[in-house]
Amino acid sequence: MKSSLVPLLCLGGAYALPALPWLTQSPISEGLVHYWDWFAPLEEDRTIYQVLKDDDSYSRLVKAIDLSDRVVDLLDDPEASVTFFAVPNSGIPHSPKHGDDDDYELDSVSFAPKCGDERDIAHDLGQLVLQVEQLDDMPESRDKDHRKEALGRIIRGILAYHILPEKLDSAALVENSTYATNLTLKDGSMDHKPLRLSVQSTVVPPRLRINTVVDVMKRDIEASNGVIHSINIPLLPPPSVFSEMFLFPEVFSYVTSAIQRVHLTSAVDRSWTPGKDSDHGSFIGAETTTFFAPTSGAFQRLPQKLRLFLFSPFGAKALRKLLEFHVVPEFVLFTDYAHDAFSESDIAQSIEGQQHGSLQTDCTTSSTVGSLDDQPPLTDPIYAYNLTLPTLLEHHTLHVQVARYKAKIPLPGPARYFTRFLVNGRHVGPYDIPARNGALHVITELLDPRGHHKHHKHHRHESGDLDWEDWEEWLPQWAMQN
Ligand SMILES: *[C@@H]1O[C@H](CO)[C@@H](O)[C@H](O)[C@H]1NC(C)=O
Ligand SMILES: *[C@@H]1O[C@H](CO)[C@@H](O)[C@H](O)[C@H]1NC(C)=O
Ligand SMILES: *[C@@H]1O[C@H](CO)[C@@H](O)[C@H](O)[C@H]1NC(C)=O
Repeated sequence: MKSSLVPLLCLGGAYALPALPWLTQSPISEGLVHYWDWFAPLEEDRTIYQVLKDDDSYSRLVKAIDLSDRVVDLLDDPEASVTFFAVPNSGIPHSPKHGDDDDYELDSVSFAPKCGDERDIAHDLGQLVLQVEQLDDMPESRDKDHRKEALGRIIRGILAYHILPEKLDSAALVENSTYATNLTLKDGSMDHKPLRLSVQSTVVPPRLRINTVVDVMKRDIEASNGVIHSINIPLLPPPSVFSEMFLFPEVFSYVTSAIQRVHLTSAVDRSWTPGKDSDHGSFIGAETTTFFAPTSGAFQRLPQKLRLFLFSPFGAKALRKLLEFHVVPEFVLFTDYAHDAFSESDIAQSIEGQQHGSLQTDCTTSSTVGSLDDQPPLTDPIYAYNLTLPTLLEHHTLHVQVARYKAKIPLPGPARYFTRFLVNGRHVGPYDIPARNGALHVITELLDPRGHHKHHKHHRHESGDLDWEDWEEWLPQWAMQN
């Protein structure tokens, strides 16, 4: 038992695996036993739409679904085979008290129906349902019809992000780390590929999460044309890579201010710019990008003098080049999906093709777990691949290594999977954070643009990052080279 758990410990830093305390608990906790109940398959001849319609606890969601014929058609299509994340009434906020300043009048919402759905998806499904409910109080009129139509269009976009175009029960859902949704944006974000969502799971406690913050409360509700997973709050189509980092200021405040300081925002952002005069405006910024975002801790661990230099007027050029080295432009890389917008190719096939035997595991680079002496007995990876990716910084590439494993843990319940993800030899994590315009991965050390080959020996001391100790010997000069 001990030895087969080692790989999980080893990789704990890179993947949001349960923290160590759970190992001391009895693995057969009450929650785990419930797994088996969830697996009893039922013959269900109603479609997803009919199942929801017949269940009072989804009445508010159904009211919203009913506004979009296209969503109804898909969820009620007997030929379909889809996954739907459904939010019950309890996951939708209640309308504000009467007399509140904070009114959700449709007029006050900044959408212009002619702009298309893209800019509308910033809306939260919960707020939309409230707006739909307000329609009930309106007398029939052309205005009401307009509102209905406009709301229906927005709702279609948001609900498309709650639909996966294949049937994935919870056991299938944990196989990979990200999935394409039914939502494709017209403005070219993600190179016209569907936006993705990410899946996180833990065995103890048994938990299935979508996009890190949304909990699946009830799994595997069978329907004739797919499967429903009930979620506690609505999913939110993700913002751009840049905006996403502002959601976690304590983690990313250094890197977001660095990006702004050297005017690199458009390399990771994609945002709506209102048009002038009659123009309807448009989205500007990177359509597709992958960013390895160093945490604030990564900046704080740099030698103090270096940090001061980078954020001084003299260091701006070095800072810009360093940041450019962390951006993979026109490329979407999730650990289980890679798309090169530049050459218009999906390289998922080649990922599958590159099955590889036993991968050398190097636990000593794991930043949070520390060194483990035993070589963990990992099974062969399900898939493994290496990629060399050009960065925004000319003539500089990143070397990425990915391997996905099926864990052999002696616990009941569905199989466990985990991913080993390295960039230039350093562990990445959390990883696979979906964004409107690509992927965000988190690293706890800045990547050294001189490449990883020169610096095999990697140590980190309490006092700081030894890799950067000799920065004065090369960095200022390097920054000035073209
Ligand atoms: C997981 O990803 C791999 C590689 O992209 C793919 O072949 C496989 O079908 C995916 N599994 C599921 C359940 O989607
Ligand atoms: C969404 O689902 C419909 C029906 O299955 C399909 O025609 C459409 O291509 C899908 N769109 C995306 C982006 O998956
Ligand atoms: C990826 O590169 C590493 C280090 O060079 C090597 O050990 C590993 O076998 C490679 N993996 C694949 C799938 O090629």
